[in-house]
Amino acid sequence: MEIINKKVNSFFILLNSIVKTKPYFVVIILHEYFRNLYREDPYLKFSQKNHKKRIINTLDNLIKLLKILQNIKSYKINFNSIKIEKDLRKNSSKVFSKIFIKNKNNNHSISYFKSLKYLGLEKKYFKNKIVLDAGTGSGRHAVLISKLEPKKIIAIDHKITINKNLKIKYPKNIYFREADVQNLPFKASTFNFINCYGVLHHTCNIENGLKELLRVLKKGGHLYLYVYGSGGIYWYSRKKMNKLFKSIPHDYTKNVLRIINTPINRFIFEDCWYSPIEKYTSQRKLEQILKKLKVESFKKLKDNIVERNKLIWGDGELKYLITK
Ligand SMILES: C[S@@+](CC[C@H](N)C(=O)[O-])C[C@H]1O[C@@H](n2cnc3c(N)ncnc32)[C@H](O)[C@@H]1O
Repeated sequence: MEIINKKVNSFFILLNSIVKTKPYFVVIILHEYFRNLYREDPYLKFSQKNHKKRIINTLDNLIKLLKILQNIKSYKINFNSIKIEKDLRKNSSKVFSKIFIKNKNNNHSISYFKSLKYLGLEKKYFKNKIVLDAGTGSGRHAVLISKLEPKKIIAIDHKITINKNLKIKYPKNIYFREADVQNLPFKASTFNFINCYGVLHHTCNIENGLKELLRVLKKGGHLYLYVYGSGGIYWYSRKKMNKLFKSIPHDYTKNVLRIINTPINRFIFEDCWYSPIEKYTSQRKLEQILKKLKVESFKKLKDNIVERNKLIWGDGELKYLITK
């Protein structure tokens, strides 16, 4: 086993030992660890540029700190003193509506269409198409596609939480509707294009979701799918963090993050920490499922940085253009 994997394991064992008594430190420490798992941090710049070395240094420092914390006495935590949101499912889509709509930069728009172009779809493809955005969240992809003259876009989510206070006017060709991606209220072969970006890994069964999406897709139609990969210390750490945060109420964490002035985009951390379901699928498994479902073809988006650093990223993010 690589030394870095051993360090990650000791780190999570130590965190477990203090999570019940010192949850505020767990939030702060995991905020520091999680930001270091990424290549860059736009808010708090890194001085060590070598990614692997930086993760190892961070782990060493945090492990030292955790060992000290183990010996500090603390009162019994009273979580009853704060309001606790019970329905995390609803909460996750609320968090996302805010993040993506408030995020004014259009980097995502550029990379989204660049990826589709690499996979074989130009912007002009969308003209007159019937589109489904499955698990739309804030509707950011529906908004992007709406500019490309599709016939109509149906944007579904199990909870539509488009925040009225943000006063965003959505284009008229987008129809928002509450529905479950595992059980869609549409006839077979309805859509030319389906976008399902970052959704199926939050459902109980990726294969069933895929089956349902392919049912409502027309023959020859396209599905753009993004699901979490697996392997590497990144996905391993996400899994461990998600488990650890089951011991800390979401509102408590939110308050700690708010007090330390965490930028709005950082609430993406919360999504990982508090997703009621986070599934990690290997590339091999996903491709096996696609073959089993007898799709016409599929093409994976390449990510050279991930390919070069499997130890950290494992299979990376799995993004595919699937043709039925
Ligand atoms: C990570 S967000 C991604 C949102 C959007 N696709 C985007 O990229 O901005 C996941 C979304 O999937 C939705 N979702 C999760 N499970 C779902 C289900 N079974 N049916 C429909 N939507 C679901 C959540 O409510 C949330 O809005």
